Amino acid sequence: MHQHIKRIAQSEGQEATLKGWVANIRESKTNLFIVLRDGTGFVQCVVGLDAVGEEQFEAAKKLTLESSLALTGNVVKDDRQIGGYELQANNVHIYQIAKEYPIAKKTHGEHGVRFLADKRHLWLRSKRQWAIMRVRNEIIMGIHEFFQSRDFIQMDAPIFTGNACEGTTTLFSTDFFGEEAFLSQSGQLYGEAMAMAQGLIYTFGPTFRAEKSDTPRHLAEFWMIEPEMAFYDNEMNMDLIEQFMKHVINRVIKNCTVELEALDRDVEKLARVNQEFPRVPYTEAVKILRGEQEVNGRNAIAVQEEDLANAKKGIEEKTADIAEREVQIKAGMKKGARKFSEAKIVVLRKEIAEMEEQVRNIPKWIESAKSFEDGEDFGGSDETVLTRVFDAPVMVYNWPTKIKAFYMKEVEGDPHHVKGVDLLAPEGYGEIIGGSERETDIDVLLKKIKEHDLPMQEFEWYLDLRRFGSVPHSGFGLGLERIVRWCCDLDHLRETIPFPRRYGRLFP
Ligand code: 4AD
Ligand code: MG
Repeated sequence: MHQHIKRIAQSEGQEATLKGWVANIRESKTNLFIVLRDGTGFVQCVVGLDAVGEEQFEAAKKLTLESSLALTGNVVKDDRQIGGYELQANNVHIYQIAKEYPIAKKTHGEHGVRFLADKRHLWLRSKRQWAIMRVRNEIIMGIHEFFQSRDFIQMDAPIFTGNACEGTTTLFSTDFFGEEAFLSQSGQLYGEAMAMAQGLIYTFGPTFRAEKSDTPRHLAEFWMIEPEMAFYDNEMNMDLIEQFMKHVINRVIKNCTVELEALDRDVEKLARVNQEFPRVPYTEAVKILRGEQEVNGRNAIAVQEEDLANAKKGIEEKTADIAEREVQIKAGMKKGARKFSEAKIVVLRKEIAEMEEQVRNIPKWIESAKSFEDGEDFGGSDETVLTRVFDAPVMVYNWPTKIKAFYMKEVEGDPHHVKGVDLLAPEGYGEIIGGSERETDIDVLLKKIKEHDLPMQEFEWYLDLRRFGSVPHSGFGLGLERIVRWCCDLDHLRETIPFPRRYGRLFP
């Protein structure tokens, strides 16, 4: 049996065989230094001429990036190496010498977004993507652990559906034996039925939205986790959301140190999830957004103006830094120092581009925030502006009736608002959870189904839930890719799922 790199400490001082791929390779006269990756981790392996003999050494010199091989040798503790160990090989077995790898390591930062997306099947092997997928896995485990330990039953909702759950504008339609069917936007309505059978349930499955918009927050196919709880009002719903988020994020912080480091994630910011989540009614959130109400002495508009000023200053400083480095390079530098400086310039240019993007965007965001009208839905930038004044995730509740789904329960004595709740992630990430207490009054539901122009006949089964043993109940939906994006601090959802399906992207 070969050893997994993650568990290499178990083989300290002993011989072990590792199997994997070349993540990096450099060569001296009598040694090859290979960074081997096997999926569980990365480790440096030294292949010495004396240790493996001339024949194997010559063969190993032909190894290229992503070539596959097995290495046997002694495991030695070495704190200077990644993972703290090194394998000193005495045998090399090559599976395949890879052709020239299209995603070469040194030019990594320079590949365009489209190129990497086209090469997604290979891009998944890069260290960042490797780390993201492992964080995603940890989140999934944390979600199951949370619900299972609280007596929830996992249920699978259908994917072919006849019902629109979240409005009719984002439905993918398909042919179901000659009948029109839709790909499910949400498992919620079926979850409600199951909650009346099982009490506490959660779905965990793919959902589909025909979002014809190319934004960093929208996928056409994404995974949603939807708990539904009998005998829960919206207060209990919010309590559960808060406990749930704390549990999942803390598990990631605890078990993904290597991955979060590879992603350069500021873990301290993530750990702010342990603070109490502010709960803000929608009408108050509107005032905060417009800069009419402050939060802990912070004004949303002023924060944006500061961000803008900082970005402008940053561009100036970084531009000057580049100019200075270019002068030094021209004047002549030692090879090592020049390489370092050139790499630094690439990074600086990227940072400047990001800041220029901010300089373009922030004035528009401020404009949109200041002129926001009570009763409208928050756009992506409004969420960013709003959440910047909070450290922890914030729950916005009691939303305008007209912008929310038909099933949300009206606030007593205020038909213009419903008991919906959105959880907005900090650091500008915005909505990651949407939920509500569900309407139980069948007459209100009938009225709403008509108002939303939904086909009454197809909702008959759902109305049965209100006819037979109706109880107060609530639930919510977490977008898996949205929480992965926040945890990993990513610009875009395209990196959060193995093979993204979004507007303009069906391959690979
Ligand atoms: O707010 P939404 O539309 O709520 C529902 O679907 C409810 N039925 C949930 C419930 O109460 N059971 O979607 C829930 C979450 C959003 O907060 C977001 O995280 C994610 O699903 N989401 C998307 N993620 C990626 N791409 C999209 N196009 C998404 N649309 C929603
Ligand atoms: Mg929503």
